[in-house]
Amino acid sequence: MTRYIIGYPATFLFLYLILMLVKFVHKVCWMPIRIQYAMRSQGIKGPTYRFLHGNTKEIFDMRALSMGRPMDHLSHEIFPRILPHVHSWMNLYGSNFLNWYGPQAQLVVTEAELIKEILYNRDDAYPKIELEGHAKKLLGDGLSSTKGDKWTKLRKLANDVFHAESLKSMIPAMVTSTEGMLERWKEYNGKEIEVFQEFRVLTSEVISKTAFGSSYLEGKKIFDMLMKLTLIVSRNAHKIRLPGISIFIKTDDDIESEKLEQGIKDCIIEIIQKRDQERNLDTIRSDFLGELLKASRDKDDLKRISLDDMVDECKTFYFAGHETTTSLLGWTVLLLAMHQDWQEKARIEVFEFFGETNSNQDTISRLKIMNMIVEESLRLYPPVPAIKRKVAKEVKLGEMTLPANMELYISPLALHHDPRIWGGDVHLFKPDRFEGGIAKATRNTPAAFLPFGFGPRTCVGLNFALVEAKIALVMILQRFKFKLSPNYVHAPVQLFMVRPQHGVQVFLDAL
Ligand code: HEM
Repeated sequence: MTRYIIGYPATFLFLYLILMLVKFVHKVCWMPIRIQYAMRSQGIKGPTYRFLHGNTKEIFDMRALSMGRPMDHLSHEIFPRILPHVHSWMNLYGSNFLNWYGPQAQLVVTEAELIKEILYNRDDAYPKIELEGHAKKLLGDGLSSTKGDKWTKLRKLANDVFHAESLKSMIPAMVTSTEGMLERWKEYNGKEIEVFQEFRVLTSEVISKTAFGSSYLEGKKIFDMLMKLTLIVSRNAHKIRLPGISIFIKTDDDIESEKLEQGIKDCIIEIIQKRDQERNLDTIRSDFLGELLKASRDKDDLKRISLDDMVDECKTFYFAGHETTTSLLGWTVLLLAMHQDWQEKARIEVFEFFGETNSNQDTISRLKIMNMIVEESLRLYPPVPAIKRKVAKEVKLGEMTLPANMELYISPLALHHDPRIWGGDVHLFKPDRFEGGIAKATRNTPAAFLPFGFGPRTCVGLNFALVEAKIALVMILQRFKFKLSPNYVHAPVQLFMVRPQHGVQVFLDAL
């Protein structure tokens, strides 16, 4: 009898372990070999799959080597530095190739026409990938990662708030924050200033004030914690996480990221509760947080959002709303400091339009030179160097048949630095290439210019970011001339966004 009692559970455990082993072997051996074979037979090559790690180790070793030290000269040829694996494997295996993120098949697509097909698709054939681990703690299930009906609901809400017309009411706050920054800059007249950190403070303040009606200091705690989480995500990006393991074994980073996730949630709930005390719906400010609050009280179940949705949405906008624009501003000032002729052209245009007065949204979008400079800056240094999607179910893409669950890796950086699209001067800063518009600059391949993505999931903060950046640039040009400091070290790196590792140091000269 006792033998049976012990025997049954032991048999179950044994069978369970066998089942797990079969699943494991299927995932890390059988599937990769099958997919690799199927793709090779269609002419899609790539580095060979290695057991469990795929090509992750090679990718991270290549990146560590290329980004481990500053660039030798002030060149804008940053593609081989930021994404060395894409650069060298494209040359070796062709425009579209297969590589492996652990046992996950990833098709790198660099052909603009195929990219358009993927990003423009409205039938959910290529949804966003599932965020996992630390990245999920960073962005949660907010607008940038969610799908289906929840995405439609959140996108509509965000579209309404960040629509070009609604931005008009945010301009005074953008101008005031930039004025505050430039007041501080007066102390640096004739001296060196590191502007990247300045822009980080500016963009944090602008998104805090305009979207959340809170002060920079209230938002600062959240930004600091988000930055720490970003570092953890980057540190762990090359580690292969096997499902379920983290329940049993927690690393220091796992524990730290859980604390940060909770800390961010607590801070956001505090801001929400403070605003929630504005009981009367009519008096709720119609900024982003106000709209989220209204949606949280909607009587219609389909339109209502939960507290967790609100927290994830706030996290997404705090994060997406400032790191990206900081990167754009930092690189644009670097480019203008290096290219004094364009700085002068931009200043002449600014004075022609505004004199010394403040800009408004209508006129700011009519600044032609400024527009060309910003576009060229986004081309050479796209803040978001890669976009990911996955294949929902087996699908035909161009001539290829792709299996379900394959990841698709699209790189704006690769497209923006492709000489076949932009010509032999692709690595030079030449804003005049945008003089006739994007279609002309891309030789009628508009999907080749993707700083804000493409299709239905295009950046919802596009207009907000452009207006904010242009206001800051106009006001800087009205007050200061600037040139690059010899202390500047050219070391573009990717830490989520493409950023200058050691900041951007310039000398200021008040006008
Ligand atoms: C220069 C500044 C910016 C750049 C270069 C940029 C870039 C991008 C890109 C490439 C995407 C598409 C990602 C994909 O398709 O997977 C995106 C989406 C998004 N961006 Fe931005 N962004 C910028 C500023 C902003 C700002 C200021 C906000 C918020 C106010 C914002 C919020 C978002 C959100 C919420 C999404 C997800 C949209 C969706 O999936 O429906 N971004 N951004």
